[in-house]
Amino acid sequence: MHKNTLFPLVPLVLGFLIVASILGVSQGQLRVGFYSKTCPNAESIIRRVVKKAVVNNPRNAAILLRLQFHDCFVEGCDGSILIKNDEDGEMKAQGNLGVAGFDIIESAKAELENLCPGIVSCADIVALAARDAVSLVRGPNYDVPTGRRDGRLSKKSLADKLPDVDDSIEVLKAKFRDKGLSDRDLVLLSGAHTIGVAACFFMQKRLYNFTPGGGSDPAINPLFLPKLKAKCPISGDVNVRIPLDWGSQNVFDLHILKNIRDGNAVLASDARLYDDQSTRQILDSYITSTPSNFNADFATAMVKMGTIGVKTGSQGEIRRVCTAVN
Ligand code: HEM
Repeated sequence: MHKNTLFPLVPLVLGFLIVASILGVSQGQLRVGFYSKTCPNAESIIRRVVKKAVVNNPRNAAILLRLQFHDCFVEGCDGSILIKNDEDGEMKAQGNLGVAGFDIIESAKAELENLCPGIVSCADIVALAARDAVSLVRGPNYDVPTGRRDGRLSKKSLADKLPDVDDSIEVLKAKFRDKGLSDRDLVLLSGAHTIGVAACFFMQKRLYNFTPGGGSDPAINPLFLPKLKAKCPISGDVNVRIPLDWGSQNVFDLHILKNIRDGNAVLASDARLYDDQSTRQILDSYITSTPSNFNADFATAMVKMGTIGVKTGSQGEIRRVCTAVN
């Protein structure tokens, strides 16, 4: 009797489990080679577009690397930074000043839409383009799990909490922790400043109005200070850009960590990594260990950053163009 009442439930439960597991797969995690069946050439097309852009202008490598950081830290890695939403859009936020590379992502997207319409997300293009950019400047080459879907929301106000160059180390750590990233990730990912440039705009406080005390940031090496001041004079053009990693700005390497250690960091946020005991230890360990794990660990941190708040399965959409929601 007891058996008979339960029996009809068995197929129901089994059915439920099967549906749940299918849903689990379709909503589930990212995976390497997500497009291998649906758009097998997706990754090679993106690589070709990125390579062309970097050969045309080597600055594009840094631009594409930074773009992924700014995409992932606001509403997750969902391509929301690419949406043009007039003055109210995420890309217009103060913290996104100087972020670029949108046209490169869009040209990869256009090729992909021709070949396999509606398949490859803008969010994945951003993550793959950053990977390709890093490897083109002799950084690590790593697998990027894909399957992100594109967000539909792009608002300036959502970008309020982006890490700021003048944040204290506690605030920087907390902002990374909020995104599931550790102090080690903060050090490693700041290592992205091994390539690229920064506008003098971001140095003004650090050079001429540092808190506390006014004047210049005492963490700046006294031999480096006059050089920085000469490049970014007090009432000079704040749009002039200077290398982030003096002496090795075009190559991905751990030279930036040595510059930070030696007081030759350009950005205040990089300098803060050496004021703090825990981040200093992490940073030093990458300089002193031979061979250094910096490249491999940077790649791991990039993959981790690339999972922040991702939309998968039936969430979000696959945009037709990266600059607008469908
Ligand atoms: C820790 C918090 C961070 C702060 C406060 C910060 C701040 C900045 C600032 C102010 C610039 C100069 C922008 C300009 O003048 O256009 C810059 C450039 C750059 N950032 Fe960061 N950043 C941080 C973390 C990261 C991360 C996590 C990445 C990537 C993984 C990254 C990659 C880059 C790159 C590659 C550039 C050079 C861009 C170019 O040459 O156009 N940054 N960053």
